[in-house]
Amino acid sequence: MCETLKLDLSRSLVEPQIIAACEAELEQAKEKLWSGDEPFTGWVGLPFSYDRNELRDILAVAEKIRRQCEALIVIGIGGSYLGAQAAISALRTEAAPEIFFAGQNLSGTYHQELLQKIEGKELCLCVISKSGTTTEPGVAFSILKDELYKKYGREEAVKRIYAITDAKKGILREEADREGYVSFVVPDDIGGRYSVLTAVGLLPIAVAGVDVEAMLRGAETAARAAKEKNSEAEMLAAARIALLKRGRVIEVFEYYEPKLQFFAEWLKQLFGESEGKDGKGIFPASLQFSTDLHSMGQFLQDGNQIFFETVLNVVDPPGDLTVPESAGELFAGRSMNAINQAALEGVIAAHQAVGVPIIRLDIPALTPYCFGQMVYFFETACALSGYLNGVNPFDQPGVESYKTEMRKVLKKEQ
Ligand code: PA5
Repeated sequence: MCETLKLDLSRSLVEPQIIAACEAELEQAKEKLWSGDEPFTGWVGLPFSYDRNELRDILAVAEKIRRQCEALIVIGIGGSYLGAQAAISALRTEAAPEIFFAGQNLSGTYHQELLQKIEGKELCLCVISKSGTTTEPGVAFSILKDELYKKYGREEAVKRIYAITDAKKGILREEADREGYVSFVVPDDIGGRYSVLTAVGLLPIAVAGVDVEAMLRGAETAARAAKEKNSEAEMLAAARIALLKRGRVIEVFEYYEPKLQFFAEWLKQLFGESEGKDGKGIFPASLQFSTDLHSMGQFLQDGNQIFFETVLNVVDPPGDLTVPESAGELFAGRSMNAINQAALEGVIAAHQAVGVPIIRLDIPALTPYCFGQMVYFFETACALSGYLNGVNPFDQPGVESYKTEMRKVLKKEQ
């Protein structure tokens, strides 16, 4: 089986000449991306130049954590946890150690229940924050650190805390250095949502027993492909922006494997935070099929045509079952995946018939190698889309406002 992703724009309704007309602009955008001069583009060359010493340290520390605990709690929000959760949900095959996530919301109920779930288990914490000052992980870390201190005492607790943060700045860096936590660095030139293939993603993913070296090899394959002329990543960027110009302001990422749920969440963050600025952008949404066909399927078929669909198709899913005779003539004896695939083909046909533009990405299998390709492919497509649409895909000025308002509310209530 061919192990590379395959993009199909044949039902996107974007004519090849429209994409061809973007060639010069795309070349410029690619040059900019690969020039090494643009801030926060450190992720671009990462698959070629990953520091082998750091990778060796990450793998050794992951092994140590696997021996040390029954449950690892990964504390972070946005780009500091979504990539890890996406990879672990899609790829993990081992049950131990359990991986929990914290600090990705401010719910007391969620964190109270988390404390109940980890009660009596051997624990480690992995706290991830590039700035080291983000409220959600900061609050969750203080709660979980307290638990660790109560359970093990300070001397042992600090041996169970792992930090991933800036090399020099921020409260978390100060604390990690002061307390002697084992720590890794979020590179200066890589923003949160582009950091899956740094220690931010690689350490928790490796603790889950997923082959991160294969992930990096997959990313390298995608990086080589993306550098080629007329690469699939740039075709995707051009098609998306062409659709936006035709009033398709929403992109619906659709997947038929529930294991891709958090990959879709990561996609929403990647595209939403990178493109939604200066009054511009495509609003990213996600739907899990066939589940959501029984709710949102109505809108897609028959509702306001302001969207296009990007279908993530796993060609060879990891598990399957044969449907028994009792399911009736049409289904009996078939593989469940074949029925799922028929649903995918049926949905594409039905939506195509009413004029929905459809982009399809075939993912050969849910392997670390393919996952690494998916990450790099979408990161590149997103960055190039941003450039084509005249925005900086690497900043996020809009996320500060709620933090300022939240602090005002808290001050008033004191
Ligand atoms: O992509 C981004 O930059 C954001 O989603 C950040 O990752 C998120 O806000 C968390 O920030 P930090 O890692 O500084 O805690």
